[in-house]
Amino acid sequence: MNVSELVSKMTLQEKASLLSGGDFWHTQAVERLGIKGYMMCDGPNGLRKQEGSPDHLGKKESIKTVCYPSANALASSFDVDLEKKLGESLGDECNREHISMLLGPGLNMKRSPVCGRNFEYFSEDPYLAGKLAAAFVSGVQSKGVAACPKHFATNNQEYRRMSGNSIVDERTLHEIYLQAFEILVKEAHPKSIMCAYNQLNGTYLSENKYMLTDVLRDKWGFDGFVVTDWGAGKGPAKGVEAGLDLVMPGGGSDHEKAIVAAVESGELSEALVDKAVSRILDVFNWNEENADLDAKPSDDATGKADYALAKELAENSAVLLKNNKALPLEDGKKILFVGEFAKRPRYQGSGSSHINSIYVSNALDAAGDKGVSFARGYDTLDPKSSDNLRKEAVQAAQDADIIVVFAGLPASYESEGFDRDDINLPQDQNKLIDELSHLGKKVVVVLHNGGAVSMPWIDGVDAVLDMMLAGDAVGEATVRLLWGDVNPSGKLAETYPVKLSDNPSFLNFPGDHGNPVYAEGIYIGYRYYEKKRMPVLFPFGHGLSYTEFEYSNYEIDKESITDKDTVNVSIDVWNVGRYAGKEIVQLYVSENDPRVSRPHKELKGFKKIELAPGQSQKVTFTLDKRSFAYYNDKLHDFYVESGDYSVMIGASSSDIRHTISVHVEGTVDLPYNFTTFTPIEDILESRKGKEVLGPVIDKVLAENDKEGGNDESLGEAGAKMFEKMIKEMPVLSLASFGMMSVDDVQKMLDQIN
Ligand code: GLC
Repeated sequence: MNVSELVSKMTLQEKASLLSGGDFWHTQAVERLGIKGYMMCDGPNGLRKQEGSPDHLGKKESIKTVCYPSANALASSFDVDLEKKLGESLGDECNREHISMLLGPGLNMKRSPVCGRNFEYFSEDPYLAGKLAAAFVSGVQSKGVAACPKHFATNNQEYRRMSGNSIVDERTLHEIYLQAFEILVKEAHPKSIMCAYNQLNGTYLSENKYMLTDVLRDKWGFDGFVVTDWGAGKGPAKGVEAGLDLVMPGGGSDHEKAIVAAVESGELSEALVDKAVSRILDVFNWNEENADLDAKPSDDATGKADYALAKELAENSAVLLKNNKALPLEDGKKILFVGEFAKRPRYQGSGSSHINSIYVSNALDAAGDKGVSFARGYDTLDPKSSDNLRKEAVQAAQDADIIVVFAGLPASYESEGFDRDDINLPQDQNKLIDELSHLGKKVVVVLHNGGAVSMPWIDGVDAVLDMMLAGDAVGEATVRLLWGDVNPSGKLAETYPVKLSDNPSFLNFPGDHGNPVYAEGIYIGYRYYEKKRMPVLFPFGHGLSYTEFEYSNYEIDKESITDKDTVNVSIDVWNVGRYAGKEIVQLYVSENDPRVSRPHKELKGFKKIELAPGQSQKVTFTLDKRSFAYYNDKLHDFYVESGDYSVMIGASSSDIRHTISVHVEGTVDLPYNFTTFTPIEDILESRKGKEVLGPVIDKVLAENDKEGGNDESLGEAGAKMFEKMIKEMPVLSLASFGMMSVDDVQKMLDQIN
């Protein structure tokens, strides 16, 4: 029976039951019509399937399985193929565990580095986040399992996430906070989307028609169903009218009773209820038809998931931030591992993404045959005892050649549910690293962190390898990277600022009573630091390798296009070092002379390539309208200004190797609603304005020059002053200065508008 027939046979009560969860993790069944209840569960870096008492914060038990690296680590791989592979593996695991929908990935923008859930999100850049999220969703859904990207949208802090109001202007909303979701919806067609807890500009996302219907469905073509974050449901009638379909968790009958009452009272149209029911049934019918419930685990899988994949992901995500000839480590040297995280690493975040790991490797065991010695150095649970542990570590370091310090953020520093107060590592760890860096020995720091951290000791250490939250295989991956069995290839997907107060959201985070005003607008992350020419600790896109890469032969196939065309650029990348390695080639675009405020550069392409020593590869990027556009809030859409653009190729946002210019002619006119008070230069920017008003202004300027009307004392600047005065004045001033009549000004405007 198809969905519309099924819906036509349902009672109103049955329909309402399908819009309300059955329990914490299941939808409701309608046995009479053969409709099952379907299970969903978290999350982005592993399967948090609960069989006992449920919760949405990861406090209670879930099945034993493999924990993969968190999103902040995976994003640093810049590897869409690996991201898709993770999605496939999780999709298989969902099928083996009879899970119909996976609640992930998380793709909220990193507005502030202290958001407690940044470990679960990809980036400060929407293009990177969107591409990675799309790869993950494609992977999961290739197995017939629905993905449920989250949290839609502007859920960029944990403080008062269930009640706060994110105040965001339209351009910033679309250009920064929605663009990753837009890329994801258009490229990967997720079967579901989870709406966020918070309000956006005064309306809760769970009943925000602009977001759930106008943008998500009408503008982007989303055809799945919208589910609330757990406990985000508000008034049923407004929710269904706005485009919300399923309220989770279930368990109570309040929501369905309210739906029935709203329909019976005429407050809610039953046709809208039918639409919501249909969307939900369409997705789970698709799951029924496509899920491969006989999926066998891969050779290396534990039957639950794939530890070998977890290791591959960790090895390809780690970022070598600094290396003054300290890495890779060589055998035969006396090496001391210092730090609790060498034995008990922090490898995942806390909250609803938390996984009950089968096995977690640690670096000390993984380096078993390397003859390393160990000193604990600090105690994350009892910092008071760290003083003695630090003394012991300094003592143990006396006869070591190289000291490898395993440091990072303890679980108590960052989590779902609360934000960090700052970006500092624990004081005892900073003191330890500082003291060890004054012993005249080589010092390597290995970090375990879900978000950007400050490094007051950076000048005193020789290398920093950032593992981020690397999942179960963290220990083995770290050792293979330290000894060069794997060459680090990750690059930062978020800027590490020197200090928190440098961050653009600093003055408005978390906002009064949890109501943040996104006053920094589009300038988040590297968009801000670059515009301000502000030095940072490590820039977006930064990451070193044990080998070196050179870029040459940068070419573009057209010098001028319209915004309906595409243009291709290509670059040859060479491995000129002695190690095989992977390079993440990044492409940035900037408008040379924008008429609106725009970032100095924006990421519009990236590719990860693997090269043997001496090998080269040609890397090509295709640019289209959206590579050059910004979101125009008069047009309510992305818009390309005519002008010259710089297309930059680099190894990071601040390591641009080559730049090429291209002219782009915009073919879309901004809506004309010029008045007598519109500045002349705004009218001249439009096609019609240039045609009608252009000759008039040219004549005025020419006559002024002829009459010697410029102020001689200003020299050439006199003509410039006159021209700027004319072009910046309201068009009515042409009449005020007797250059034409008021009627003629109005006639001209009528002709243009
Ligand atoms: C949590 C999280 C969400 C998760 C859900 C179910 O509150 O915000 O990401 O999927 O509840 O655990």
